[in-house]
Amino acid sequence: MDIRRIARERWGGRVAAAMHTVNARHPWDHNAAFHPWILTRLPRRRRLAVDAGCGRGDLLAALAPFFERVYGTDLDSTMRETSRTRCAGLANVSIDDADLDGLPDGADLITMIAVLHHLDIAQALAVVREHLAPGGRFLCVGLAPPASAADHAWDLASMITNPLIGIVRHPWPAVEATPQPELPVAQPTVSIAEIGRICDSVMPGAVIRRHLGFRHTLEWTRPD
Ligand SMILES: C[S@@+](CC[C@H](N)C(=O)[O-])C[C@H]1O[C@@H](n2cnc3c(N)ncnc32)[C@H](O)[C@@H]1O
Repeated sequence: MDIRRIARERWGGRVAAAMHTVNARHPWDHNAAFHPWILTRLPRRRRLAVDAGCGRGDLLAALAPFFERVYGTDLDSTMRETSRTRCAGLANVSIDDADLDGLPDGADLITMIAVLHHLDIAQALAVVREHLAPGGRFLCVGLAPPASAADHAWDLASMITNPLIGIVRHPWPAVEATPQPELPVAQPTVSIAEIGRICDSVMPGAVIRRHLGFRHTLEWTRPD
């Protein structure tokens, strides 16, 4: 049983309800919080960046100043429309509905934030590896269910720090903002340890690190 479920079910839901109240008053975007992690690891050659599962397009807009061409893909038509609106005026950004197999070849950067757990992980990593140019980089922010003691410890730390980070990032209680279209979500089922084993065979040398915010990162550069 994971720590989030314990808070929800065993502590009568009181802790979870209190956390939920604070989190709702001080919301923060757990995906956008990793944009600096990506922007500080860009590859040297910057002709083409691909963001697979681009959602509302915030990362596309953040990458646009750094690449000749930025290409976003999302299976969800509402997300594609939202991305197009978000990136209107950015002439080097294009967005379509290509599945992973349809990604352009020779990418210098492929990013995925909160997307890998929607996919068959081994298959997706193999496709990413093939679409990267030599020296190209894969920067991925993922979600995984807690399985080991270390996973549970990070989950607990994320749960405790979540409202604190919200208060620091968003000190004033949220007022009703223009509602954003909901991101399509999926429940992660593959543990970090298993992702590591898949990487050992598909992307040897990939670096996986746990972070606060219920996320981990995966970084890999295709050898020249
Ligand atoms: C949780 S959202 C994350 C969106 C965005 N990356 C972000 O940082 O907010 C996952 C996104 O992946 C998209 N997605 C799922 N499977 C996909 C696939 N096979 N190809 C492209 N997009 C996919 C979903 O439509 C959704 O927009």
